[in-house]
Amino acid sequence: MTKRLLRVRSYAKINLALEVLASRQDGYHELRTLFQSIDLHDDIRLRLVPGGRIKLRCEHPQVPANETNLAWRAARELLTWAGRKEGVEIAITKRIPVAGGLGGGSSNAATVLTTLDRALRLGLGAAGLLPLARQLGADVPFFLHGGTCLGLARGDEVYPLARQLRTQVVVVDPQRPVSTAAVFRRFDAALTPRENSRSIFYFGSSDLEGDAGFRALFNELEDAALEEAPDLGEAVRRIRGVLSEAGARHMALSGSGSTYFGLFADSRRAHKAVAALRALGFRALRCRTLTRDEYRRGVQRG
Ligand code: C5P
Repeated sequence: MTKRLLRVRSYAKINLALEVLASRQDGYHELRTLFQSIDLHDDIRLRLVPGGRIKLRCEHPQVPANETNLAWRAARELLTWAGRKEGVEIAITKRIPVAGGLGGGSSNAATVLTTLDRALRLGLGAAGLLPLARQLGADVPFFLHGGTCLGLARGDEVYPLARQLRTQVVVVDPQRPVSTAAVFRRFDAALTPRENSRSIFYFGSSDLEGDAGFRALFNELEDAALEEAPDLGEAVRRIRGVLSEAGARHMALSGSGSTYFGLFADSRRAHKAVAALRALGFRALRCRTLTRDEYRRGVQRG
């Protein structure tokens, strides 16, 4: 057993596109989504300890430092599944906005799974960890892969794409947490079930590399999220105005919000957008997409 302190990065995601086709028998929704890793990350430190206890520390006021935290549950599930007697101490330094549609909690959970898999030499890998990840949450399996991926079913059936996107990203956090379950409930009121995606093929098609592939993308939860948080509407209108003025090639709400993002072909335009958004009082960050390989290496760089 290693008593070494393990330092890892837990990266955020954005949804380049998100379509909701229908509600499912299991209470979830049938999704088609494009997940994309970005280099905004939390830091996680893990230490295996004797005695079977799991301890979690996180200074962020909105993050529970107990057994309701998804990272805590990930550690418990994996240690139990593997029949191991060790415990683990987990310390999380939060940078990813909480309940903002960037998958922070899901990323922390998946990162704990992959790190413990390596530290305990369980040899499970992404395929072996998938059942545990699915049980923890619909977004968790994506973080076993990272990069640019297609998400089907509840979003938990994940396919890494051949085309890994490299672009600048501006993320705007309106600091207004939104409940994912509440946004889906609102969306249901206007849902006409359908069989297939309207837009996502276009992105996958190599004929449409470049900005044409982005043009068809949208997030179908956006209207429901803005109804759920009406005070966000005006903020989003202003954010879209700035991103568009600065030359964004694509912009959308991430997941069920409230984080909004814009994609930029070059860092000069992205800088300009960040400066303009900050001048208006928004919390804006410039980051970039990570390919699947960059994601894998980055997690372990800690
Ligand atoms: O799986 P997770 O706990 O992250 O999902 C949070 C909530 O989002 C679920 O309880 C459900 O209400 C909603 N959801 C959904 N369909 C999905 C994913 C999430 O309805 N495919």
